[in-house]
Amino acid sequence: MRIIKIFDTTLRDGEQSPGASMNVGEKLQVARQLARLGVDIIEAGFAIASPGDFEAIKRIGGEVEGPVICSLARAKEEDIKRAWEALQDAPQKRIHTFHSTSDIHLKHQFRVSREEALKRSVEMVKFAKSFTNDIEFSPMDATRTEINYLCEVVEAVIEAGALTVNIPDTVGYSIPSEFGAMIKTLFDKVRNIGKAVIAVHCHNDLGLATSNSLAAVLNGAGQIECTINGIGERAGNCSMEEVVMALRTRRDVFNADTNIKTEEIMRSSRLVTKITGMYVQPNKAIVGANAFAHESGIHQDGLLKEKSTYEIIRPETIGLHKTKFVLGKHSGRHAFRTRLNELGYSLNDDEINHAFERFKKLADQKKEIYDEDLEALVTDESTSAPEIYRLVDLSVSAGIHQRPTAVIKLKVNDEIIGKTEHGDGPVDAVFKAITSITRTGSVLQKYEVKAITGGTDAQGEVVCSLKEDSASVSGHGSDTDIIIASAKAYINALNKLAARKK
Ligand code: KIV
Ligand code: ZN
Repeated sequence: MRIIKIFDTTLRDGEQSPGASMNVGEKLQVARQLARLGVDIIEAGFAIASPGDFEAIKRIGGEVEGPVICSLARAKEEDIKRAWEALQDAPQKRIHTFHSTSDIHLKHQFRVSREEALKRSVEMVKFAKSFTNDIEFSPMDATRTEINYLCEVVEAVIEAGALTVNIPDTVGYSIPSEFGAMIKTLFDKVRNIGKAVIAVHCHNDLGLATSNSLAAVLNGAGQIECTINGIGERAGNCSMEEVVMALRTRRDVFNADTNIKTEEIMRSSRLVTKITGMYVQPNKAIVGANAFAHESGIHQDGLLKEKSTYEIIRPETIGLHKTKFVLGKHSGRHAFRTRLNELGYSLNDDEINHAFERFKKLADQKKEIYDEDLEALVTDESTSAPEIYRLVDLSVSAGIHQRPTAVIKLKVNDEIIGKTEHGDGPVDAVFKAITSITRTGSVLQKYEVKAITGGTDAQGEVVCSLKEDSASVSGHGSDTDIIIASAKAYINALNKLAARKK
């Protein structure tokens, strides 16, 4: 049985999804979960792209144990040096450098010849190799590259020392039979191919990223690049949960598996959803809300008799357990901490104290506290930004014959500022009041509200995305009152934006 390496790029290509940008604390939280999940390599960012990316790579390298930590770098000396600096604290480091190879890119974007592109790729692999042994090279837009030239580039970069060569379907153009054949050609024609791992990196523009990655595995690829929930540039990247569960479920076909602890899949998916504010569609394979829901009577009948009649994956395999009633208002700090540990969260004493206070308030409002409530509470705790703005008080009035009005007080640095505003509805009034206190120039791009569990006493979870100049952030807030949750989400996003500016 071959073990296919999982190279997770949620924090790099995934973060390139519109509106999915994460701050350093959020990236660290995702990276810790990726380590628990058992990914082999974490592409933690693109060091030269921004100081935030640089810091995230550095912190992840210093604090997250297990996977190899990788930074992306263009085939340029300054990029490679910056990647190397960011990786300093990582026990296992990889530099991933890339250069386009398709004529379309070379002619229209880079204005260099094939020979020049080849020469630069080789030089930069050698340059990167002077820092560390673990070098990955990607010929960008490989699937639209003339195949003989692609073979030549792959052979030359392996000769120069690349230990992994990644074949990206950058624009999601390929189809499985063609992509599989391309990987086979590389294995047939590149003399030194045995000296490197062949990786694949598929985008989902035609909805084929998972199928293309699997076709590549059938033809010898040994590493798959993917993201949690398939987030990424445009239509996204190959989805980790799909490709891993396809390999696991159909080991008979692929004769291959991964090191992924599949029981961590659901938690990873929920965490990335919460942090990025990008919800997965209900019918999404593996992690969608309906992925294990059987509606038809015939299916339900079969399942009751024998699960394998209509279930190809047991929900527990991906860490999906029936929602349990866990805690209530009489539960103590010890039970609270124990349940969080069982759910995989390890908080320090301060975080526990703060989260426990919020838990007690929640338990007063809501009789039954579910795992999902705890997860929301902990995510709110650990992904909050330094609080420049803090919600002190809020009341709203609205009704059929009443103009929606919000009266709000915020603490801004050390000063309490109050404001009353009217709006089209209570949320609009609240947002207007917050906008006028904070004088933000940001634009609200997305506002979404969702019930965390069932019942009318459920907590509402609100995600809102803001954009100001080139910075975009998502804030979230949860509360049994969706107006308060909305205010919290907006303030959380404004705090993140303020932290970004600093
Ligand atoms: O899609 C792509 O080609 C990439 C490369 C940088 C590997 O993301
Ligand atoms: Zn990509």
